Amino acid sequence: MKVEMEEIDDSTICDSVSSLVEGCRLPVHMSGTDDWPLAEIVSIKDVRGRRLYYVHYVDFNKRLDEWVGEESLDTRKVHFPRRDGGSNTAAVSGVSTPKKLHIGAGGGGGGGGGGGSISRPSSPVATPTELINGSAVLAAALQKRMNRKRKGPSLESEDSQDAPIQQQPSPGPRQSGSMVAHHDDVVTRMKNVEMIELGRHRIKPWYFAPYPQEMVGLQCIYICEFCLKYRKSRKCLERHLAKCNLRHPPGNEIYRKGNITFFEIDGRKNKSYAQNLCLLAKLFLDHKTLYYDTDPFLFYVMTVFDNRGFHIVGYFSKEKESTEDYNVACILTMPPYQRKGYGKLLIEFSYELSKFEGKTGSPEKPLSDLGLLSYRSYWSQTILEILTSVQPVGDNEKPQITINEMCELTSIKKEDVISTLQNLNLINYYKGQYIITLNKEILENHNSAMQKRIIRIDPKCLHWTPKDWGKRAKW
Ligand code: ACO
Ligand code: ZN
Repeated sequence: MKVEMEEIDDSTICDSVSSLVEGCRLPVHMSGTDDWPLAEIVSIKDVRGRRLYYVHYVDFNKRLDEWVGEESLDTRKVHFPRRDGGSNTAAVSGVSTPKKLHIGAGGGGGGGGGGGSISRPSSPVATPTELINGSAVLAAALQKRMNRKRKGPSLESEDSQDAPIQQQPSPGPRQSGSMVAHHDDVVTRMKNVEMIELGRHRIKPWYFAPYPQEMVGLQCIYICEFCLKYRKSRKCLERHLAKCNLRHPPGNEIYRKGNITFFEIDGRKNKSYAQNLCLLAKLFLDHKTLYYDTDPFLFYVMTVFDNRGFHIVGYFSKEKESTEDYNVACILTMPPYQRKGYGKLLIEFSYELSKFEGKTGSPEKPLSDLGLLSYRSYWSQTILEILTSVQPVGDNEKPQITINEMCELTSIKKEDVISTLQNLNLINYYKGQYIITLNKEILENHNSAMQKRIIRIDPKCLHWTPKDWGKRAKW
């Protein structure tokens, strides 16, 4: 693999790992792969006489960060951090500068409250190989594309979709689904929870989440899959389960078809559930920090039903009132259910709600890499579905539809419709006007993609009336 090091020029042959410090960059063997991508040392610790290094792979998503031993480090070409006040890391990635955490009231017990989590071990083998390879390659490819696009001219609507990739710190804390965007910090940069058990699943977290200090040192946090309360041990969880009457999320059941059910939870009425959901979600959502005020949000939790109860598959949060037309704040499919079409189902549901509201909507920015992929795929399929169903008015006429009509039919916001048409390369300028051309290849790809979308949202099964939150004095 070619390693690009144009930003720092002070590479040195380093004959001993003992001179390695935080901020050093060097090729590191990525677990589960044969690759040695460039990585930055975020933290160093000694565990029972063994030195471990927490590394971030520079061109990859943070979920691949891991603890590695000396044998994984290629010390032949090390780039040491510059001595001029640590600006090197900022110049390189902008992620190492310690900044204030934006954790709301009640976060005192969180892992952010001190350096404790730095010295906590985390398994070096992070994720199954398939996921590592898939995500790593994908993240790198996406990153390269973004970099290319940023250099060249591009339309604003497209840029706004591309902005999300994590290297771009957002200008200020943005509230989102009871999370706010945060600046990276050496503590929050590192995964602090080794494992969670949720119902029948054991899941390895991807990112930091401010669980209380006494929880993060454990090998596993045991979470009640129905009320989302967390416990220190399986025994404690069993005691909890004996008392916990819930077999589904709290709130109103607003949709059911087959074994799929959606519950609507008011962040003000079910505060404890909403906060625990955000805490759990933070383990898999980067670029957002937990925010404890869940009052302004609704949470739509999707479950699958069996004889043991309604098991959480994923959720999205939504502001009760959004001045920016956001119809989703945060969205998550629990990892055991990912890549099976549930993400698209959540997105479809969010647009169905917008249709009921008679509005267009868009997900809150920034989007994550996987968020962007999923939305792009959903937008493309939805727009192609509309385009292929438009009928010509007269016999010899070509089918006609305006962009506004596409927005009305799908509830997808105009800029997202336009960026999708551009991404699909469908817009052509012909004899003084814009026309959309669908070639055979696009149609074939679309048909085969739609055949894979077996589960769909059926609007007839949605029993919901939107509330006008603006009219209420208080949520
Ligand atoms: N690698 C490559 N492609 C992927 C991956 C992956 N790891 N994950 C999803 N995709 C693609 C799928 O191939 C599919 O596209 P296709 O149908 O054109 O092939 C599309 O993304 C959606 O796949 P689904 O199976 O429907 O989505 P999934 O259930 O995996 O959920 C989601 C997608 C919600 C983004 C999930 O990856 C997730 O929870 N990620 C962590 C949290 C996150 O990043 N959320 C979005 C943040 S942005 C925001 O909150 C507004
Ligand atoms: Zn419970």
